[in-house]
Amino acid sequence: MTRSFEKVGVVGLGTMGAGIAEVFARAGLTVVGVEADHEALGRGRSNLESSTGRALAKGRLSEAEQAEILGRITLTTSLEDLADADLVIEAIPEIMDFKRTLFTELDRICKPSAVLATNTSSLSVTEIAATTGRPGRVVGMHFFNPAPVMRLVEVVHTVVTEDGLAEEVAALARRLGKTPVSVGDRAGFVVNRLLLTYLNHAAVMLENGLATREGIDTAMKLGVGVPMGPFALLDLIGLDTSYEVMCVLFQETRDRRHAPAPILRELVTAGLLGRKSGAGFYDGEAPPTPPAAGKPTVTSVAVLGEGAEEFAARLGDAGFKATTTQAGADATGDAMEDADVVVALSHTPVIELAARLPHPGRLVGLHLVGDKLAEVASTVLTSPEATCAVEGLAKIVGRVPVHCKDRAEFVVDALLYPYLNDAVRMYDSGYAGMDDIDAAMRLGCGYPAGPFETIDALGLETVRDGLRALYAEYRDPAFAPAPLLDQLVTAGVRSIRGLS
Ligand code: 3HC
Repeated sequence: MTRSFEKVGVVGLGTMGAGIAEVFARAGLTVVGVEADHEALGRGRSNLESSTGRALAKGRLSEAEQAEILGRITLTTSLEDLADADLVIEAIPEIMDFKRTLFTELDRICKPSAVLATNTSSLSVTEIAATTGRPGRVVGMHFFNPAPVMRLVEVVHTVVTEDGLAEEVAALARRLGKTPVSVGDRAGFVVNRLLLTYLNHAAVMLENGLATREGIDTAMKLGVGVPMGPFALLDLIGLDTSYEVMCVLFQETRDRRHAPAPILRELVTAGLLGRKSGAGFYDGEAPPTPPAAGKPTVTSVAVLGEGAEEFAARLGDAGFKATTTQAGADATGDAMEDADVVVALSHTPVIELAARLPHPGRLVGLHLVGDKLAEVASTVLTSPEATCAVEGLAKIVGRVPVHCKDRAEFVVDALLYPYLNDAVRMYDSGYAGMDDIDAAMRLGCGYPAGPFETIDALGLETVRDGLRALYAEYRDPAFAPAPLLDQLVTAGVRSIRGLS
């Protein structure tokens, strides 16, 4: 018999819990929101009011509708009020001991038929379920921040979940207007396993001084089309939550890339948790501004590499004396000798070329990504003036410059390719199908495309070769192309999605 979910409990009314309560109430369900004490309950109430107030301010909700939604939500500090709920979902902090204690209590209080759900980001649902006398009726129901906006819900089943329950919970997610993706119980599930690994990688990159916080955020937004750069997103998720998720991932995988970047620990310890505490990587909610580019003071520019002619023509139109040249035999030729700066259009490091020039300080690498971004790579020999001039030139050709060090795959591809590789490994492990992984990343994170769609768009060989370059540079085994990707390239297969 199909269960009916009409009354739900939400325990924990922080950012996620309040968002989840709103989602249930919007779908017409009766909601009981529980917080630990009156102070926390007050914060929960204001979370609910500000989220629905936002929709009201945008004209997406009338005052009467807002009142109706909030009217469906009762707030309490007593778990006992959940005795007759059909489903209870918790969104308390990511600490296993807290969850175990809560589920033991919920199991005692809630009616035997009630389903207990956790919104955990990464903790073991199986372990949480084992603290109850009803492990078959404990599932994961993982929402994404902001819960009222993001369309994905990961429905997590364990080896002991009752037959048919995951489908019923998925049907409930659909009733909420969400798209469910059903997955097994593995640290990070689909999205956090891929997303947080990438966000942590960005934090490591920042610590290594590859580029600035604003630069990395700008590069990913303009170069990949993600709605938020990694640091703005870490601030949205919460640095404490992100840190906890990384710890759980590391504990399961012992993969060095899952060790939380030290800067996360430092910020969390300092109480800088992101938006919820008013500051994290960024202060307040101010969106990152693209880095300023200096006004080019140069007059003559030598350009080489793929697309040099078009680039030089654009500079010529703008009044510069721009000549094209080749990286090979005449690398030390007149054009390079005389030019104020040398722009090497390249997607690989340019130090080797710089080292062959008479004036290596004048050479700057420029990687044009998509049609908006230019990664400006300066080598250890590049002069600050040359870097500044090339940033200005990038602006003149209509691109936003992001300065970075001269390292394999610079910023965007260095972050993108390992994430794509992780998705291939996830698929190859049998954990989730390509369509589900693609949908999860699109609907859970607002990505313009899922990882397999992105691999097909970029070309399998391009991604494989980029990963090889990263592996050669950093020697991290996780950057070595997934065997499946390598084999598909070798076999001449052009679409990875053709396999699904
Ligand atoms: N609460 C409620 N609604 C919100 C909101 C919030 N916090 N933030 C934005 N919205 C609504 C707006 O009201 C607006 O609604 P409308 O289209 O009906 O007018 C809509 O979302 C778009 O908002 P804005 O125009 O203000 O801003 P953006 O277009 O920049 O979108 C964003 C904001 C939706 C947050 C977008 O930047 C985005 O999709 N970012 C990626 C978020 C993401 O990756 N989330 C997943 C994080 S991982 C996670 O949560 C898992 C956890 O376990 C760690």
